[in-house]
Amino acid sequence: MGFKEGFLWGTSISAAQAEGGWDEDGKAPTQVDFANVGSAQSNGRQLIYKKNDGTKGQLSGAYALFPQGIEGGINQDGVEFYRQVFLELKKYHIDPIITLYKYDEPIYFEQTYGGWTNRKMIDEFVEFARVCFTEYKDLVNKWMTFNEINVLMLFKNLPHDKQTAQQRYQELHHQLVASAKTVQLAHEINPQNKVGCMMAGICTYPLTPDPMDVMDNYQYFQDMFCYVADTMIKGYYPSFSKRMWDEDGIKLDISKQDYTDLKNGTVEFLGFSYYMSQCRTTHTDGITTKGNIFTGYENPYLDKSEWGWQIDPMELKYKMHFIYDRYNIPLLIIENGLGAKDVVEKDGTIHDDYRIDYLREHISKMKEAVDEGVDLMGYTTWGGIDLVSASTGQIEKRYGLIYVDVNDKGKGSYKRIRKDSFYRYKNVIESNGEKL
Ligand code: BG6
Repeated sequence: MGFKEGFLWGTSISAAQAEGGWDEDGKAPTQVDFANVGSAQSNGRQLIYKKNDGTKGQLSGAYALFPQGIEGGINQDGVEFYRQVFLELKKYHIDPIITLYKYDEPIYFEQTYGGWTNRKMIDEFVEFARVCFTEYKDLVNKWMTFNEINVLMLFKNLPHDKQTAQQRYQELHHQLVASAKTVQLAHEINPQNKVGCMMAGICTYPLTPDPMDVMDNYQYFQDMFCYVADTMIKGYYPSFSKRMWDEDGIKLDISKQDYTDLKNGTVEFLGFSYYMSQCRTTHTDGITTKGNIFTGYENPYLDKSEWGWQIDPMELKYKMHFIYDRYNIPLLIIENGLGAKDVVEKDGTIHDDYRIDYLREHISKMKEAVDEGVDLMGYTTWGGIDLVSASTGQIEKRYGLIYVDVNDKGKGSYKRIRKDSFYRYKNVIESNGEKL
């Protein structure tokens, strides 16, 4: 009973939401930075960009690793930056789990290749992964390929034309093949490597017992989660893919080698994010509610966060059982947390009981699922430190266990303060989940 020995406790973070320094040490804008840069155009090997303040910049250096593709070469400063991060983690016996791709693709790839619609992106990604696996061989042995890779399917739930559908499915196919080739490479370079997929946890209920709602909800889960997870874990597209492709009238370009790669590059664990649940209905009388990526209908049995996200620890337990029953490989909860406003008291303390409650209730349900047989390898809260929200761009929507003294306008001392939740989570880790 309880969490096994060696259970991975920790917190997660995203480079693009926390690092800053987008134009330092040879780094240039990625997709995420692009909004802050204003506009940018590529001129051969150089990137000319216009900042929001109107000034122009020119970059011929690299992004984090391959700023301008394989041909442009590696930015050694980027390689060294992360080496230092990993060495620092090692000093404190922290075992890192690295996601290779989290929405921070250099703009160069969009401008030169048109992004993931182009098959060349597969080789570019595999080469990038090769550098990471080789350079950090002695420092990292747990990897995930694409963050929340299934969000590419979001278009399916929005009004779209056939061309958009064709493009999205093809982009996703290229990412799935790139991921599978990367898994094979990871094992060739270091047999100790373990590679997982990382899925956005899609958690919806049918709003009514109308059989139409029940079927609609199940198909939504197939479309948004299983289409991708089945392919990455079983090594082939699931049977219901044909229904999906037919619905959108698309035809995928899949080579014989792609089928082989998908088969030979299956992942060993399933990482997923979980924040909240929503309802779905085929009726039109529900009240809509908000979420990180997906919008749905309100569930009258649940409370909401300040940002309108419905809080639902039981769904975490339900989903853990559901996906473990389906895939039978270890699970990893890689993102789970509460975005809330924090108040610094006069004595400098931060009493974030709401975050403590959120984490305790989720960990407690997670523990029940583990006691009932689910193989869970780890849990990391989102995030260790306050970071910029992906959907709203706010830092005042705080997720951290550690406060950063800066507001949405970028004003503050950047001083760090440990919140009450920091100390509570420390107890949870020290007791391997026994003291919640
Ligand atoms: C996850 C993303 O889906 O949601 C994170 O992977 C994001 O990048 C998190 O930060 C929380 O969402 P938000 O929009 O509140 O930052």
